[in-house]
Formats: sequence, C-alpha cells, structure tokens
Amino acid sequence: MSDKPITTLDIRKRKHQGPRLVMVTAYDATFAALFDRAGADILLVGDSLGMVIQGHPNTLPVTLEHVLYHTAAVARGTRRAHLVADLPFLSYQVSAEQAVHSAGRLLQEGAAHAVKLEGGERMAPTVERLVAAGIPVMGHVGLTPQSVHALGGFRVQGREAAAARQLLTDAQALAAAGCYAIVLESIPAEVAHEITAAVAVPTIGIGAGPACDGQVLVGYDLLGMNPQFKPKFVKHYADLHGVIGAAFAEFQREVQAGTFPAEEHTTHATPLRLVRDEDEDRLYGAPM
Ligand code: KIV
Repeated sequence: MSDKPITTLDIRKRKHQGPRLVMVTAYDATFAALFDRAGADILLVGDSLGMVIQGHPNTLPVTLEHVLYHTAAVARGTRRAHLVADLPFLSYQVSAEQAVHSAGRLLQEGAAHAVKLEGGERMAPTVERLVAAGIPVMGHVGLTPQSVHALGGFRVQGREAAAARQLLTDAQALAAAGCYAIVLESIPAEVAHEITAAVAVPTIGIGAGPACDGQVLVGYDLLGMNPQFKPKFVKHYADLHGVIGAAFAEFQREVQAGTFPAEEHTTHATPLRLVRDEDEDRLYGAPM
C-alpha cells in the first residue's frame, strides 16, 4: 500500500482499474488514524454524526460548525485517505453562493479535500458552481437522510420504475455537472447496477447491492458499537460493544477490589530527609 495521499484523480481511476473503493465515516482523530492506517481510501465526516455522536434521531440538527469541528479533528488523524466532509442541512440548499461559502469553509478551516451534498438533478447547478470554484463534489442520491420528512422516513428509494428512472437521471445530471463520485444509498441492487454502468464516475454504495464501484459504512456500525442497530445493509465486522463492556467491567471490578492502580501504575515521592539551614534557621527537604 502506497503512503501517497489519495486524490480525486485516483478515485476516478478506480472505476476502471479497481480495486473497489472503501469508504468509512470517522468523526474524530483517533478513529480517523485507525481507519487511515488500516487502509481506508476515503474518510467521510458524515452528518450521520448527528445520530452517532450527538444522539439525535436524524441528521437535521447538524450545523456547518459541527461538521467543521469534526472535520478538523479527523484531518489531524489522517495521512493517506481522501477526506470528504458532508455539507449539512441548510448549509447549501438556499443558494449556490451559500454552497460555495459553506464548502469553502470545510476545505479552508476543516482541511477537507472534498464535500458531499445530497440531491440529484436539482442540485446540478450548485455542483457546477462548486466545481467552478475548485471544490471537488461527491454526490449522494437515493435515500437522502436530510429529506427524511419529505421521504416519509428512512425508506428504500427507487423501487418503482419511474422512481428508478429518476434516480438514473439524477446520477447522470450530477456526473455531468462535475461530481467525481456519487453515493447511492438504500436503492435496489438492480437500479444501482444500472446507474453504475451508466455514469463515468465511481458509485459508492450503502444498502445498494454489490455492483457499485465502492462501499461505505458508518464506522461505528461496521465495528458493532450498537448491537441494537442492525438494518439489513449493515454488517458488524466486530463486536466492540462486547469488547468495551467487558473491558469496563474489569476496570470496575479492580477499582472496587482495590487492585487498580497496582504498583506498576503508581508513582512515589522521592524520599527526602530534613536538613536544618543554620544560617537562615529553617528546615528544608534534601534527597536521601
Ligand atoms: O452521513 C453519512 O454518514 C453518510 C453516509 C452514510 C454515506 O452520508
């Protein structure tokens, strides 16, 4: 594995040269460094942080300042991976100018390499403006969580033929506007297959079947931090919930038993002897 930082050009090439792109979300420097050193191609500071980190039921409360804070932290842990930051709800929908300003801050203050925004055909003019400003854009179609209320919940999109056709139009419009990659979220595998074959840029799937040019998962989901959260598209590759629970129980047991801290975790004061300074008529401590 090369140590060279991964660029948008490398990502585009992977569509034809492979291997498939591996993207994962990260929200802090520690997890960023772990995934980066493990070989992640793309780290995404997703607005999923609203749910995973902040404990909200959806991503709508996430602000640009929140994403900036987490992006800067992730950047400090990242050496090789390509770093993408989500444009959160209402930081780009108002106007293309607003989008350039918000995205510019993510690159300038957060040290992101690119931004991701949600929406298809209707976002194409905004994508063009961002790309013209020198800001790489990753698209995101299908289940777009910032529209959770408009969509009537977190539901699979594009099941019917007309909706599937619109998804294809959306992805083509984003690619034509200059997106260098597109996330396909929660759509039937057949639709993702067709889109992947039709667009010239890589598709990165989540709940979109195996035909995409890459896959993304929320880092906490793939590590099994929350066993209760197990939608069909998530695979737990570890049981960190169990590992963390067991480690903490052992810490608690040792603290209560008085066996932690042990001698090797303990610092002692340097033993001193008391010496009298006859001139000043006072005592002071001197090493034994
Ligand atoms: O916010 C996020 O984590 C995302 C991924 C799930 C694609 O957008």
